[in-house]
Amino acid sequence: MADKLIIFDTTLRDGEQSPGASMTKDEKLRIARQLERLRVDVIEAGFAASSNGDFDAVQLIANSIKDSTVCSLSRANDRDISRAAEALKGANSARIHTFIATSALHMEKKLRMTPDQVFEQAKQSVRFARNLVGDVEFSPEDGYRSDVDFLCRILEAVIAEGATTINVPDTVGYAIPELYGNFIKTLRERIPNSDKAIWSVHCHNDLGMAVANSLAGVKIGGARQIECTINGLGERAGNCSLEEVVMAVKTRRDYFDLDVGIDTHHILAASRMVSQTTGFVVQPNKAVVGANAFAHASGIHQDGVLKARDTYEIMRAEDVGWSANKIVLGKLSGRNAFKQRLQELGVQLESESDVNAAFTRFKELADRKSEIFDEDILAVVGDESVSHDNEQYGFVSLSQHSETGERPVATIVFTVGGKEVKETSEGNGPVDASLKAIETHVKSGAEMVLYSVNAISGSTESQGEVTVRLQNSGRVVNGVGADPDIVVASAKAYLSALNKLQSKSDRVAAQG
Ligand code: KIV
Ligand code: ZN
Repeated sequence: MADKLIIFDTTLRDGEQSPGASMTKDEKLRIARQLERLRVDVIEAGFAASSNGDFDAVQLIANSIKDSTVCSLSRANDRDISRAAEALKGANSARIHTFIATSALHMEKKLRMTPDQVFEQAKQSVRFARNLVGDVEFSPEDGYRSDVDFLCRILEAVIAEGATTINVPDTVGYAIPELYGNFIKTLRERIPNSDKAIWSVHCHNDLGMAVANSLAGVKIGGARQIECTINGLGERAGNCSLEEVVMAVKTRRDYFDLDVGIDTHHILAASRMVSQTTGFVVQPNKAVVGANAFAHASGIHQDGVLKARDTYEIMRAEDVGWSANKIVLGKLSGRNAFKQRLQELGVQLESESDVNAAFTRFKELADRKSEIFDEDILAVVGDESVSHDNEQYGFVSLSQHSETGERPVATIVFTVGGKEVKETSEGNGPVDASLKAIETHVKSGAEMVLYSVNAISGSTESQGEVTVRLQNSGRVVNGVGADPDIVVASAKAYLSALNKLQSKSDRVAAQG
């Protein structure tokens, strides 16, 4: 019988550490539910001790998710571990993931601790965590750049204290596949009690090798857990991408000979949900989930695929959730059909009033756009800029005038704390004028570090999806807005980013 490969998703923790990718509690729950539908084995829901917001999100996910293990990250100290255990209390299956840096560089410069102090703290933390939950993962941060003798000593000790999973992070994405695979193999061979734990790989993508390194850790090193994120989301160049690593192991089962429990049909929906929630657009040529991943443009390829699809296709597009750009709903579709499609897409709205609000937005869109695709529906439910009661800013309406040779003017009506305000401004273009009109009132002083527009479903009839990234006082946030009118989509994205800037965060960073 083949071994099982455990898929540990950290989109909501390591993925969320990416500047601008922060998510609200409800957004995290929506993604966690999609991960559960994907049958991810372990969901790292956050870092409970880092902020009250993270604690609440971990707690909400722990109380809601039934089929996946829910995990919280925690530094190696009693306070963090107790917070994690507290947040995970309601979980069917809970894991505490505790970590401390072990490379000479991190211990000396960051922690200002001696190796012996780190050794003692790691041991004591795993012991403390094991008294609270039965499933404890330990990570030596910057493990790949750590001294192998020291790593063997510390990992043997934490396994003896009851760590059930040992994760070896390549924190800075420095590894090379063969070397990383052999590193894990050496650790497993040299540590006498290594068979008492499951070995895990956690690779960052700074040199573009996170997936390759993770697979080498499995094939050469014998690891049986991969840590990854949807779309490879994560700090800097991101983490190992779930969709790529899972499809590699499934497509090349002849080579890996491992079972993976993921229901791949939900991969695309998960990718779109994460991209629309965070505003991190998926590049068209991205493997598995990019718009071109299964498109055959050249005549020779098209001809081959029509005669026999396996001439040029190694995976079936349907197996990862692609359907032939189906028109799913239209203006005559009722609330039940809308609700059912949401369920099929893995979107579970929290209350009937949320369903009603999304249905109203869907009807408004269907009045303006004859064909509604799955992407449109996901954009409608992800629309953060409208009718969110507890948010400071909400979009109401916009009019603008632009003509060749004249400076465009926009007038926007939006709510501030529930009260409508109306502002007018000129700008270099209609988008610039609209955002300047908002700033005339808000005076956020934020710097725009990214503005991007993407057609959700291809044609000019499509909705435009706009991402705006703002930076203010050291914080970076992304706002996303969608509308058939890209000027309106831009205003919605800007208001959504301002809302995120408003929600104060005093979070502690996991690394650094
Ligand atoms: O990359 C890393 O080292 C991490 C640890 C906290 C596991 O994310
Ligand atoms: Zn990481």
